[in-house]
Amino acid sequence: MKILTLNGSLRARSSNGAVLRSALALTDATSAAADISALPHFDPDLDTEGATPPAPVAALRRAAVDADALLAVSPEYAHGVPGVLKNALDWLVSSAEFLGKPAAVLTASPSPAGAAHAHGQLCEILRMMSADVIPDACRDLAAIGPKTDPATGTVTDPATLQTLRTAMRALTTAATAVTTAAAVTVTAEATTDATTDAADTTITTDATVTATTPTTPTTPGNPATPTPHSPQPAHTP
Ligand SMILES: Cc1cc2nc3c(=O)[nH]c(=O)nc-3n(C[C@H](O)[C@H](O)[C@H](O)COP(=O)(O)O)c2cc1C
Repeated sequence: MKILTLNGSLRARSSNGAVLRSALALTDATSAAADISALPHFDPDLDTEGATPPAPVAALRRAAVDADALLAVSPEYAHGVPGVLKNALDWLVSSAEFLGKPAAVLTASPSPAGAAHAHGQLCEILRMMSADVIPDACRDLAAIGPKTDPATGTVTDPATLQTLRTAMRALTTAATAVTTAAAVTVTAEATTDATTDAADTTITTDATVTATTPTTPTTPGNPATPTPHSPQPAHTP
């Protein structure tokens, strides 16, 4: 299972980066970090149907397609989602890569009030993008400062680590359910296709038989009685 991660903080010593690092360390899933700092400003004129997207946008969209789940971590700036993260999400709106994919939102702030505004906004944006925002995988972490170790860039507070473990379990459980359901659907479709192919082949055989029926001599005014025919075995190619 692969998780695409987006961090709304570009800071080298980001506390959200510490949250992200620790969260990923608590799961077996692999991850890919989106380089959202390289994205151009979202411009609908560059995002028209059939347009070739700028290379960093194409890379982001490929990474989103490859991912089974999304994990967004972010601080709050002026009671809002950092522009760099909103910009990245705007590039993903029209291409719908997150349709139905499980998503987690972790926000962290040094403030005792947390980053509640950005947290709510991010969840709403992702829901609008038709991601499956998993409530148990979303947490707003208040007063994050003393809960991290700046030297290692990781979370050290046991309670916060437990919160992250629970959140990651909720995300990966949801993503596993989606991939399992998709695998079942593919198997069912393959079975249906095989059955339909066999039925089509039988119809083809019947059609061939029907097509040969008119060669049966008929008497004018006495139309030939259609010859009933039993189901034919499927062709072997
Ligand atoms: C321009 C600016 C605006 C901020 N606004 C808020 C805010 O509205 N709410 C909040 O909790 N923290 C706010 N902060 C503080 C950030 O939460 C803090 O800098 C945090 O450490 C950034 O996350 P990071 O450590 O992952 O980079 C703001 C910081 C800056 C630089």
